[in-house]
Amino acid sequence: MSLEKLQSLIARDEKIAMLTCYDSTFAKLSVAAGIDVLLVGDSLGMVLQGSENTLNVTMQDMEYHTRSVVAGAKDCCIMTDMPVGSYEHEKETALANAKRLIAAGADIVKIEGGGEIVNTAEYLIKQGVPVCAHLGFTPQSVNKFGGYRIQGKTDEGAQSILQDAIAMSKVGVTFVLLEMVPAALAKTITASISTPTIGIGAGIDCTGQVLVLQDLLGIYTGVANKAPEDFKSPRFTKNFLQDERSIQGAVKAYVQAVKNKTFPSAEHSY
Ligand code: KIV
Repeated sequence: MSLEKLQSLIARDEKIAMLTCYDSTFAKLSVAAGIDVLLVGDSLGMVLQGSENTLNVTMQDMEYHTRSVVAGAKDCCIMTDMPVGSYEHEKETALANAKRLIAAGADIVKIEGGGEIVNTAEYLIKQGVPVCAHLGFTPQSVNKFGGYRIQGKTDEGAQSILQDAIAMSKVGVTFVLLEMVPAALAKTITASISTPTIGIGAGIDCTGQVLVLQDLLGIYTGVANKAPEDFKSPRFTKNFLQDERSIQGAVKAYVQAVKNKTFPSAEHSY
């Protein structure tokens, strides 16, 4: 799906269904099930590589998985995460790395954080690279946050995320992705900017939703070397496979639930 087709979907007030994807088999199946945007997320560090977080993921990993996804989904809009260390320092380095991901087949690159990162986003966009800004809980800063914690709960925290979203919107990002923020804050942000918002743990009022594929299928049980029974899925995830007979059926059920606004419900929101 081209960015123009996505615009027309937004114009008719249809929710965007986004899903993470890391290979061609799932890419093909997800597109056939109606997914609008595939996110080659650096969550692959956790769900594929078995790490505790996304901090060991490399540019090579992201290029490899982007190429694999593109092979299965040539006509779908593909967003790829810029991994930690690939964009936060020199703007020129950020651009060179973004171009590598675009060359691998990404339509949009995603970067985490506001503040100084707004200048990087602006620079990439001026050089012709579409950018998604990831705000709220940003997994590459998990150590700074002291763990997987909801962001924007205090007035000050909420204001800071809102201001970052406004700044990112002004420089022309394609999407603002909001992770693990109160639903009320995501609603305010969505109403305050013209840029579409994509939520994960951000309530029902975002322009679209994203989930990690393994969470949608209920098959992620945490770090590779820890017992599965010690793992508790985050509140915002939902196993769509348990009531379906196939993986494609589960992805279709997710798409439908996003489009008809039954997911996420209050139990999946903060
Ligand atoms: O890497 C990823 O999968 C993500 C989602 C959690 C939005 O960034």
